Amino acid sequence: MTHPDHQPDEDGRPYIQFVHVFKSFDDQPVLIDVSFEVRRGEMLVVLGKSGVGKSVTLKHIMGFLRPDAGEVWVAGREVSRLGEAELLEVRRRVTMVFQSGALFDSLTVGENVAYPLRERAEHGQNLTEEQIQARVDELLALVELESLRDLMPSDLSTGMKRAVAIARALAGEPEAILYDEPTTMVDPLMAATIGDLILKLKRRSGLTSVVVTHDMKLARKLADRVVFLVEGRVAFFGPIAELDSVPEPTIREFIELDEVSFRR
Ligand SMILES: Nc1ncnc2c1ncn2[C@@H]1O[C@H](COP(=O)(O)OP(=O)(O)O)[C@@H](O)[C@H]1O
Ligand SMILES: [Mg+2]
Repeated sequence: MTHPDHQPDEDGRPYIQFVHVFKSFDDQPVLIDVSFEVRRGEMLVVLGKSGVGKSVTLKHIMGFLRPDAGEVWVAGREVSRLGEAELLEVRRRVTMVFQSGALFDSLTVGENVAYPLRERAEHGQNLTEEQIQARVDELLALVELESLRDLMPSDLSTGMKRAVAIARALAGEPEAILYDEPTTMVDPLMAATIGDLILKLKRRSGLTSVVVTHDMKLARKLADRVVFLVEGRVAFFGPIAELDSVPEPTIREFIELDEVSFRR
């Protein structure tokens, strides 16, 4: 799953960059002067309490939302200025794994994973049925769910659905993948499996990755750098190793609560 352009972006920008982004809904500020970046091949973890704007941040990267002010750069383009056709191009390079998994309920696991391949075939890329099936097998093997190929999504646990959604996201051969709360509502064993999978994909394919979570254990396992949002602002942006020495009270609380939940 190597990608043709692993060179730095032409203009030397990081793969993803937020520059003083502001976003409000109905005069309620959600993102206030948010700046951070993700280098090509890097894993960024976005941390913060529920409702702080983590999913909103991911939706800006995908161009589903536009900032009121500031710039969002993705793969060398300023996303907030792009039209629909150019946005589709960005969304071929960057995919998002939604919290819900968002599988097609009426399609088998295998057909869910095949979906982006069939779409590509429609866009002129020549893929035979054999090639599609071989690629589906390869992707399901990568997420270690080959045996589920002919099952329906309703037969799967939440964790398995997430893994299938990840396989489907990879079918489009993205350069970057965004995960929204990949381990929420998943049992601890499956959460660890999904964490391992996200790490494996990053290491094996050099995928640029953004993981939204409030799971500190997952953050420690995955993050190169962390952006920690508190009340709409970036309270910390830097290497995960430095997070433990940040005095910001909400961050302390977050880390200490996590330690308490470990002991339970
Ligand atoms: N499309 C929208 N319209 C109005 N309000 C929204 C919209 N999307 C998110 N919000 C609000 O923005 C805030 C941040 O939401 P979100 O990013 O989903 O939080 P989280 O950090 O839990 O992912 C919440 O108060 C939410 O209600
Ligand atoms: Mg969210």
